[in-house]
Amino acid sequence: MLRRAFEHESEMVRRWRNHPRVRGVSFTDHEIGEAEHRGWWSATVTDDTRRILIYEHDGVPSGVVNLFDHDVRARRAGWGFYLDVDGLGERGELLAAWMRIEGEAIAYAFAELEIGTLRGEVLVRNEAVRTLHRRHGFVEVGTYTRRVAGVEEPVVVMELVR
Ligand SMILES: CC(C)(COP(=O)(O)OP(=O)(O)OC[C@H]1O[C@@H](n2cnc3c(N)ncnc32)[C@H](O)[C@@H]1OP(=O)(O)O)[C@@H](O)C(=O)NCCC(=O)NCCS
Repeated sequence: MLRRAFEHESEMVRRWRNHPRVRGVSFTDHEIGEAEHRGWWSATVTDDTRRILIYEHDGVPSGVVNLFDHDVRARRAGWGFYLDVDGLGERGELLAAWMRIEGEAIAYAFAELEIGTLRGEVLVRNEAVRTLHRRHGFVEVGTYTRRVAGVEEPVVVMELVR
């Protein structure tokens, strides 16, 4: 299940985002400090073009879906996700959550935001997520290079049309 994040979940989200495996596939790889996170959180929850959603796996908060750049007129939005790698790993549910979160994010974006096109950007080396996206019908529509941790990294842009 996906639902809007509660205020008291902010630190939990920061902990998940700071996991080395999540940082290792993000565009900004530094450890996010408390103040930086608070600033990002308050700017995000008051921005109509963005939404922080919590993914519950069998009733347990287990991941985050970020929707951003929601353009009502163009009926488009971007998205990203990450999981509670440690918590799901301890419960032996990591793989199952990987399989489920994406389908739920797609369903939510199309139903709740009423968009026509959902866009994701993934590091080219992040083969696991590129494969997952393809399985869900995303098509690779372009590539570009961006600086990640001081290195030029190829990024692929993937889109899913309703
Ligand atoms: C992993 C992923 C979700 C990271 O998403 P993200 O943090 O929103 O993406 P970015 O790192 O580009 O962050 C966007 C901006 O928000 C900021 N930000 C994101 N989370 C933040 C937080 N908790 N606190 C403060 N700033 C934050 C970043 O610093 C960045 O700022 P900038 O634009 O000024 O550089 C995204 O790269 C993705 O979806 N990858 C594919 C899926 C994947 O591999 N998921 C991991 C599976 S475990």
